[in-house]
Amino acid sequence: MAGKFARVEERVAQDGIERATSDQADVLLGLIQRSIAACAPYDARQRSVWASSFTRESVTAMVADTVVLTAPGGVANLVILTPGTGLLDHLYVDPDHQRSGLGCRLVEAIEAEARQRGVGTLRVDASLALAPLLERLGYSVVEVYEKTVGGVTFTNTWLERSLHPES
Ligand SMILES: CC(C)(COP(=O)(O)OP(=O)(O)OC[C@H]1O[C@@H](n2cnc3c(N)ncnc32)[C@H](O)[C@@H]1OP(=O)(O)O)[C@@H](O)C(=O)NCCC(=O)NCCS
Repeated sequence: MAGKFARVEERVAQDGIERATSDQADVLLGLIQRSIAACAPYDARQRSVWASSFTRESVTAMVADTVVLTAPGGVANLVILTPGTGLLDHLYVDPDHQRSGLGCRLVEAIEAEARQRGVGTLRVDASLALAPLLERLGYSVVEVYEKTVGGVTFTNTWLERSLHPES
């Protein structure tokens, strides 16, 4: 098991994935906004409402309160919930870096962080863009549902994955 973790950590270091710091809030906000602006499954109104949910303050709070991992071109965060449970949230890859495997590597880095922190199951409230990536990585679909934010409806998917070694 230790060997498996070591391999993940080695790859993380090679990819330049590291913990975000509070002075990166503006850079991360810009990356998130660019990623949402180019998110093809959603129309302009949906993208506008989605993007407006992020501010410099909310990104600063995210960095302060949760585990935020960054790589050149991408960001993801891990929220520790009740004991044994974690939320993988806010995975964004800059449009210029998409479809090169960075999203998968950020998910694997979050999984390694989650294991180290005793999280047994990761849950994700995924966009239409993210759900296929997670299914490819072995996540199970729990529920496809619609949520309304700012008068706009989004189709999202809850997925989860057990991080226990035997699964
Ligand atoms: C979803 C997202 C993070 C994926 O990042 P990425 O770096 O492009 O992902 P990867 O290169 O690791 O993709 C790995 C695999 O996932 C699947 N995948 C990734 N993006 C996909 C898409 N838009 N549609 C269908 N499958 C997709 C593919 O199987 C892909 O493998 P392939 O390129 O060999 O076909 C990125 O598209 C993004 O930031 N989207 C906008 C923001 C968003 O929706 N974030 C999630 C919020 S919940």
